[in-house]
Amino acid sequence: MCSGNAFFLFTSLALLGHAVAQTIQIGRNVIAVLDNLKSLQLSNASFFDFGPTGKVYSSGMCKPAPGDADWPSPDTWNTLNLLTGGALISTVPLGAACFQGEHYDAVRCAVILERWDDPHLHAEDPTSVMNPLYQGATCMPQNAATGGTCEIGGSASYSVNVSTVSQVQLAVNFARNTGVRLIVHNTGHDYMGKSTGANALSIWTRNLRTIEFIEKYSSSASAWTGSAFKLGAGVQVWELLAAANDKGVSVLTGECPTVGVAGGYIAGGGMGPLSSKYGLAVDHVLSLDVVTPDGNFVTADQKNNADLFWALRGGGGGTFGVVTSVTVRTLPKMKIAGLTLSITIGPNGDVSETLFWEAITGWWRRFPDYVKQGSYAYSIILPTADGGLSWALTPWIVPDMSLDQFKAMTVDLRAEWERIGFNINLDFFETENFYDAWTNHFPSDTVGVPNLRTASRLIPSENWVNPSLLDDTVMFIQRAVRNGSSLIGYNIRAAPVADAPASATVPIWRDTTMFAIVGTMWDATLPNTEVDTINQRITKDWTASLRSLTPGGGTYSNEADVMDPDFQQAFYGYDNYQRLTTIKQAFDPWGLFYAPTGVGSETWSVTDQQGYVLKQTGKLCKK
Ligand SMILES: Cc1cc2nc3c(=O)[nH]c(=O)nc-3n(C[C@H](O)[C@H](O)[C@H](O)COP(=O)(O)OP(=O)(O)OC[C@H]3O[C@@H](n4cnc5c(N)ncnc54)[C@H](O)[C@@H]3O)c2cc1C
Ligand SMILES: *[C@@H]1O[C@H](CO)[C@@H](O)[C@H](O)[C@H]1NC(C)=O
Ligand SMILES: *[C@@H]1O[C@H](CO)[C@@H](O)[C@H](O)[C@H]1NC(C)=O
Ligand SMILES: *[C@@H]1O[C@H](CO)[C@@H](O)[C@H](O)[C@H]1NC(C)=O
Repeated sequence: MCSGNAFFLFTSLALLGHAVAQTIQIGRNVIAVLDNLKSLQLSNASFFDFGPTGKVYSSGMCKPAPGDADWPSPDTWNTLNLLTGGALISTVPLGAACFQGEHYDAVRCAVILERWDDPHLHAEDPTSVMNPLYQGATCMPQNAATGGTCEIGGSASYSVNVSTVSQVQLAVNFARNTGVRLIVHNTGHDYMGKSTGANALSIWTRNLRTIEFIEKYSSSASAWTGSAFKLGAGVQVWELLAAANDKGVSVLTGECPTVGVAGGYIAGGGMGPLSSKYGLAVDHVLSLDVVTPDGNFVTADQKNNADLFWALRGGGGGTFGVVTSVTVRTLPKMKIAGLTLSITIGPNGDVSETLFWEAITGWWRRFPDYVKQGSYAYSIILPTADGGLSWALTPWIVPDMSLDQFKAMTVDLRAEWERIGFNINLDFFETENFYDAWTNHFPSDTVGVPNLRTASRLIPSENWVNPSLLDDTVMFIQRAVRNGSSLIGYNIRAAPVADAPASATVPIWRDTTMFAIVGTMWDATLPNTEVDTINQRITKDWTASLRSLTPGGGTYSNEADVMDPDFQQAFYGYDNYQRLTTIKQAFDPWGLFYAPTGVGSETWSVTDQQGYVLKQTGKLCKK
C-alpha cells in the first residue's frame, strides 16, 4: 500500500503495541513522531492530535458521509490504517457472501445461513449487529434468493480491530479531529441500535480478550482484598464464567453466554442470575481503564476520576469514552437450587387457559417473598402457532440455597397448584456451583431477527403492597399477552450491596420485584402502515400501560424501548441524568460519542426515519 520509512516506522509502533498488549498507550511525546508524518507529507498527521483539538458541531450540522467534502480522503483513511498497524477494516456486511458480486462465496453463505441465529457468528464479525432492524435490515442473507439487496445500510463504514490501547487512542483522536461519527462496537448485542451507525468509524473491542486473575487485590482506592478479575473489554460471559469456575469462585454476569461483560453490560448496570442476592455487576467493579474522548488513557476508580467511575457504571455504553478493561471482584463459590418447567395451552395444550392464568398468578403473587430470599426466575410466555400460549421457567433458581431449602420455600405454592389441579412436572435441580447450574439449566440464545422489538419496565414492590394495584398489574399482563405480546417476566431485584460505591443505575432497580419485557415479532411481508401500528402498540399501549402502573419508576436501560418518550427518567432517573449530563459535557464537549438513548442523545437526530422506530441508517445531525 505504501512504502518507505513512514510505513516501517508505524508498523513497528503498532507491533510494539501488540507485544505489550493492552498496557501500551501513546503519550504526547509520540506526537513528535507523528510530526514526522507531516514532513514526509504522507498525510494529515494533525488528525491524530489529542484534545482539546476537535471538530465542534453546532445546530444543524451533520457528521459527514462518504462523498461529502469533509469526509476524509482515501489517503487519510490509509494513514489511520498504517498507524493502527493494518487494523482498519472497510466494512463488508456479514450477509454479503450470499449476494451476487465481489463478495459472493457459496460455501461461506451456507455457513452464514445455517448459523444466522447464533450470537457467536455476529460477535466475531466487526460490524454485524444481532438486532438488524437498526441497520435497516439490509443484506439479510435469507433474502438473497428472493430479490433482496445488500447495502451497507446503517453499518459503520470502517472499523478498527483493536488489540491495544494505542489503537483505540488513534481512532478516537482521528474521529474527533475529522468529525467522523464514532461508534463503539463489542459483540453487537445492543437492543436499541447503540453499536451501529451509518457513515461511522467503529472501534471493535471484541478482540481485547485477556482475563487476568488477581489472587489478592490491593489498591488504595478500595478496601477490597479478596480476589478479582481484570477483564479486557471484549470478554464474553461464557469466557469469564469458565475462568471463574477454574479458580473456584463465582462472579456476577448476565446469563446469555455471548454478552460482553466489560462493554455494554457493565455500562448499563449489568443484571444476572445472582442479582437478587448480590446486586448488579456495577456493584462489584473495582476500577475501569478508559480512553476518554480527548484521547487520553485514564483509570477510573473510587479515588481517581471518581465522576467517571460513577458514570461508567450505569450511565450507558458508548457515551463517556472507550473502556479498555474492567476489574471486578469475585464472589464465593455457591450452591444453586432451582427448577425448570414448561407447559402449553390451546387446542393441543396441557391445561385450560383459566387454570394457566390462575397458576401463574399464584406464582406472581409470591414474588416479593421470593425475591427477598435471592430468587431469580426467567419466565417466558409466548403465543403458539395454534392460537394458544406456552409458558416456560428456564430456570427459576436461588443462589446459596440447597434443594431442601428451595423445596421448603416453594411448598405453599406447590400445595396451591395441587389444590387447583395444576399438576405439572417440575424438574428440580441442585448444583455445587453456579457454573454447573448455568451450563446445564440455562438456555442458549438466538438472535438475528429483523422484525422484532421489545420494551420493558421494572415493577417495584409497591405494586404488591396495594392489592388493587396488584390486580391491575396482573390484569394488564394478561391483556397484553392476549393482545399479541410475549412476556419475559423475571423475578428479580438488584439487591442493595452494603459496601458498593454509588453508581449511575436507575434507583428503582433496588426496589424491584419483577422485570417485565413485552414485545412482539411481526410478519416481515406486512405493509408499512401495519408494521407501524404494531410498533406504536408496543410503545404507546403496552409500555404506556406499564408506565402508568409504575409511576415515577423506570427500567433496565440495556433491555428497553429505544422509543421510550422519557428515557432520561426511565433509564437513569432524573437526578442521575442531570449529573451524567454535566459529566458528559466535561469529558465530551465535541459530542464525539453518540448512542441512541445515551446521555446527551436528545441533542442529536438521525435523518431518514420512517417513524415508528429510530434507526441508525441516516446521517447524525446536531439538533
Ligand atoms: C440475547 C441477549 C441476551 C442478553 N442477556 C442479558 C443478561 O442476561 N443480562 C443483562 O444484563 N443483559 C443482557 N443482555 C443485554 C446486554 O447487557 C446489552 O445488550 C449490552 O449492551 C451488551 O453489551 P455488548 O458490549 O456485548 O454489546 P454491544 O452491542 O457491542 O455494545 C452495547 C453498547 O455498549 C457500548 N460499548 C461496548 N463496549 C464498550 C466499551 N468498551 N467502552 C464503551 N462503550 C462500549 C456500545 O457502544 C453500545 O452502546 C442481553 C442481550 C441480548 C441480545
Ligand atoms: C488531508 O486531508 C484533507 C481533508 O480530508 C484531504 O483533502 C487531503 O487529501 C489530505 N491529505 C492527504 C495527503 O491525505
Ligand atoms: C482482528 O485482530 C485479531 C488480533 O487481535 C485477529 O486475530 C483477527 O483475525 C482480526 N479479525 C479481523 C476480522 O480482522
Ligand atoms: C390488540 O389491541 C388492538 C386495540 O387496542 C386491536 O386493534 C388489535 O387487533 C389487538 N391485537 C390482537 C392480536 O389481539
